[in-house]
Amino acid sequence: MQKHQFDAVVVGGGGAGLRAALQLAEAGVKVAVLSKVFPTRSHTVAAQGGIAAALGNVSGDNWLWHMYDTIKGSDYLGDQDAIEFMCKNAAKAIIELEHFGMPFDRLENGRIFQRPFGGMTQNYGEKPISRTCAVADRTGHAMLHTLYQRNIRANTQFFVEWFALDLIRDTEGDVLGVIALEIETGDIHVLQAKATLLATGGAGRIFQASTNAFINTGDGLGMVARAGLPLQDMEFWQFHPTGVLHAGVLITEGVRGEGGYLVNADGERFMECYAPNAKDLASRDVVSRAIATEIKEGRGVGKHKDAVYLKLDHLGEELISKRLPGIREIAKTFANADPIQDPIPVVPTAHYMMGGIPTNLDGQVVEYRNDVENKVNGLYAVGECACVSVHGANRLGSNSLLDLVVFGKAAGDKMVSDIRAAGTHKALPADAADMTLARIARLDHQTAGESVTEVGAAMRQSMQRHCGVFRFPELLEEGVGTIDAIAQRAQHLQIKDKSKVFNTARVEALELDNLIEVACATMHAANNRKESRGAHAREDHAGRDDENWLSHSLYYKNGHRLVYKPVRLQPLTVESFAPKARTY
Ligand code: FUM
Repeated sequence: MQKHQFDAVVVGGGGAGLRAALQLAEAGVKVAVLSKVFPTRSHTVAAQGGIAAALGNVSGDNWLWHMYDTIKGSDYLGDQDAIEFMCKNAAKAIIELEHFGMPFDRLENGRIFQRPFGGMTQNYGEKPISRTCAVADRTGHAMLHTLYQRNIRANTQFFVEWFALDLIRDTEGDVLGVIALEIETGDIHVLQAKATLLATGGAGRIFQASTNAFINTGDGLGMVARAGLPLQDMEFWQFHPTGVLHAGVLITEGVRGEGGYLVNADGERFMECYAPNAKDLASRDVVSRAIATEIKEGRGVGKHKDAVYLKLDHLGEELISKRLPGIREIAKTFANADPIQDPIPVVPTAHYMMGGIPTNLDGQVVEYRNDVENKVNGLYAVGECACVSVHGANRLGSNSLLDLVVFGKAAGDKMVSDIRAAGTHKALPADAADMTLARIARLDHQTAGESVTEVGAAMRQSMQRHCGVFRFPELLEEGVGTIDAIAQRAQHLQIKDKSKVFNTARVEALELDNLIEVACATMHAANNRKESRGAHAREDHAGRDDENWLSHSLYYKNGHRLVYKPVRLQPLTVESFAPKARTY
């Protein structure tokens, strides 16, 4: 095995990883970024509608209103100190991106363009506000390329098509780097680091219908779970209201921000019944449940009545071409509908993981023991793989790109100071790679067993059936048994016809290990939370139960153990927003 030594290793080349890497490289830290794909193909590239910040370019705005909306959107599960930090730093983050060269759309007066997004309001819920800054409907693409170019300028070292497999931990529990697979050669490498950052993105591929890229396999979460560390709030998955029927491809909420709306088979704007004030711009959990209800009650559109229509023809060709050009392409390609005249059939589609690897505001991964949070030395996490927690039980659209850059920078800063204080590298344990090598040997030498495709399909079917927009007690209970059995099957995978498929199949099998960890965490945590909050809507416990469940779940792989820690209701500098009924 080849050994490489860096000050910092960043796993993941998306928005969060690149923002952190930039902070490290510009501080003169020797930093490596490992990415399964070429960095500008990371899933951030698919983010469409925009990035939120209370710039007030269209109408008066205030970061406190943004903070309130985010807390309410989270159904009060978000930690209020983290949410204050994010919303307060949002404007600075946008200006910084602009100075990096990000080509934001402009208003007539030259200021950065902003559009309305779900749950974003003026004056603590009074009316919708334009708070989401955008580059047409390709905001993530513009952000990712901007950050990549800045990293090139800052001499960040990239390891492209390298797949991080496991963390290296010593007997004191400190993290000393990662074991990685060089996909092209199949070689295993040791990357030693004083600071290791996980920025591996989401895991939406645990579901059958997902807006996520095929690369979103929860790699950081799998690494953390196997290292004996917890995963937080895994029961909370966001279903985006508008994925293209049967294709899963995202149609940005920016469409509704620009004035598009949803209709059922009777042509009714049904959101008026479910969210009389915000209507189509209610938060995503509310809109997704409304669509699911319309379909369940027989008012769906299409041959199987299994979708609703998103209408935007009234916006006109000029606006669609200027602000939503990508959507037009997607609708034509995946729905055979030109939105200039045709409605787009859409359904709620798995989109975003609110939970993840628990961290503090500096991106340090934390454990919770005996009512105390302790950091794990040397390990950091940011972006969708992390849970800081700013999104709680339901994320507001356009807060995720913000999360990436605000906490990416904060983690980068903290890593710089920790690296400077660290002195020399700690010695690696002699058995650093043993667990990983055993995993690979098991795969390579297994001569009987199921294929990755079979077991992966079973997992996706089970997640879709047992843990969807609405959750039913019998299905959750059954889902736990099913997913645990699938996890056992995944222990006996066989890579068929090795001569032809070589590393691709190996990578898919290793990715499935990570997906299974995420699926198990999700199912167990969902079954155990006996209330409805945000995106977790149980048929048998209809309301939110703050008395018993205003707490984060922490799932441990060993024994599928779940423990709970209280939500941090105290912000950093302002008054707390007390939980209250949540209506839109
Ligand atoms: O609808 C969208 O453009 C998605 C944005 C987001 O998930 O933040």
